[in-house]
Amino acid sequence: MKENLKKLYIDFFVSKGHAFIPSASLIPENDPSVLFNTAGMQPLVPYLMGKEHPLGKRLTDYQKCIRLTDLDSVGDTTHHTFFEMLGNWSLGDYFKKEAVSYSFEFLTKVLNIPVERLGVSVFRGNEFVPFDDETKECWLNLGIDSKKIVALGEDDNWWGPANVVGPCGPDTEIFYYRGEDVPSSFDVNDKNWVEIWNNVFMQYEKTSNGSFVPLKQKNVDTGMGYERVVAVLEGCYDSYKSSVWIDIIKKIEEISHLSYEGNERSMRIIADHVRSAVFIAGDDVGIKPSNTDQGYILRRLIRRAIRHAKNLNIDLNSDFLEDIAQIVIDNYKDYYEELARNKEVIKEVLRQEKIKFARTLEKGIKEFEKAVSSSIKVIPKDLAFHLYDTFGFPIELTCEMASERSLDVDVEGFHEKFREHQEKSRVGSSKKFAGGLGDHSEISIKYHTATHLLNAALKKVLGDSVHQKGSNITTERMRFDFSWDRKMTDLEIKKTEELVNQYIKEALPVVVKTMKKEEALNIGAEAMFLDKYGDVVTVYFIGDVSKELCGGPHVQNTSCLGHFKIIKEEACSSGVRRIKAILE
Ligand code: SER
Repeated sequence: MKENLKKLYIDFFVSKGHAFIPSASLIPENDPSVLFNTAGMQPLVPYLMGKEHPLGKRLTDYQKCIRLTDLDSVGDTTHHTFFEMLGNWSLGDYFKKEAVSYSFEFLTKVLNIPVERLGVSVFRGNEFVPFDDETKECWLNLGIDSKKIVALGEDDNWWGPANVVGPCGPDTEIFYYRGEDVPSSFDVNDKNWVEIWNNVFMQYEKTSNGSFVPLKQKNVDTGMGYERVVAVLEGCYDSYKSSVWIDIIKKIEEISHLSYEGNERSMRIIADHVRSAVFIAGDDVGIKPSNTDQGYILRRLIRRAIRHAKNLNIDLNSDFLEDIAQIVIDNYKDYYEELARNKEVIKEVLRQEKIKFARTLEKGIKEFEKAVSSSIKVIPKDLAFHLYDTFGFPIELTCEMASERSLDVDVEGFHEKFREHQEKSRVGSSKKFAGGLGDHSEISIKYHTATHLLNAALKKVLGDSVHQKGSNITTERMRFDFSWDRKMTDLEIKKTEELVNQYIKEALPVVVKTMKKEEALNIGAEAMFLDKYGDVVTVYFIGDVSKELCGGPHVQNTSCLGHFKIIKEEACSSGVRRIKAILE
């Protein structure tokens, strides 16, 4: 099955006039409010909002996704951090009838699922949107028995927006019965009915004031979780026994000289976390383990995998992480070329992080054991912070170790100490930074402001036709894509750099104002995705150098940015150039 589902899906939708689009990066391009793409539709938001897609109105893909909400649940039979989502989209093209019949045809004709094993739910309606009897009618016409169709409320049959604002709408979910004897009616509470596919009819935009306004076009957004569907179709109640995971689990058995049975939890965590780490470190964006944002997630995943490897008595000095990573790379490289291209980077990331953590893990565990032997009920903030600061234990790891012994952790106290520590260790900046571990880091915020300055400087040097086309920030560098159709000269690059540094030196105040979108446009504020914003927008002003529609956050004054340096200027796509720059 493993080899086939992605191919079958894409081939089917291509045969129905859809263009195949490659998976976007795991890291959202233009949305600093989320760390990772959590659904196939996320990279497509501008197109769902009405922007024209170069490949047309019908698209299909498999998209790399990461969801962090269930990270603590990983270790059971169903949860995964990284997963792939298969999807097909209509951007203002076909709607409910065709979407539902494509899904039905794929499931019954391509995957050969008997009709009686399928059950569906449709939207019952609420005060804004009526009952979706149109979709119900479509399912009935296709031959789904009325007892296999249920109507549910917005908790079940409304999807999105993926973030606070954006496209959303009623959906219809398709379930598969995995037990022996199929019951005559569909019961959503019976665990043998497993959701396998979601068809969302995206026709609304949730705006920043909480209202739902009709989108310019009626879209279809569908999502099928690859891992889940493979497990269900292969009859695996434990997802990690499906063909998606089998090679990875076998490798862990081989390395640990233990069998999966009896060691499931640790093996699942190692398998899931190493696979996720391979995809994060192998993404072209270039994430490295760090203490903030995506880098912190990468660090957490690797360190938690290492602790579970220790539980299995795996030799931490061996190359076990690289060996498991190699299996992941081999299994996925035909679908995600970047994994093969970045193979050495991935292995180096795993190796270095392991060298760092393996040194202190043992000592940290000893400290932890010593403390818990004194019959405490709660791990105090000082110990949690000590484990973090001295031994590199992410707070979540301490929490997991504590919960294995039915103990609590003073997490709030830990964060307090963490912030105090950050305040103390910060030099030469008067700005307050209220950041937790997973928040926007101080350096990312600086890069964010530098992005606006670079945008403004480029306009001065190259002209007003320059517009932002994309941006991406890590803790190490910023990347900025803009409309321009030739290589910049050395002189232009130098001038741009000098201008940004001049803005920094001028210590310009950064001020945010809320205003009507119209007003913002009248005063000439820059806006990348106009359609993405509601009627009321926030505009960031940097002195009188820059004004841009933006959700923030930003520094309060440019003086704290340090020295700006362009390290690369290259072609990105047709008519778009890319600059990589750092703050020193
Ligand atoms: N956006 C929907 C989901 O994530 C369908 O793709 O389930």
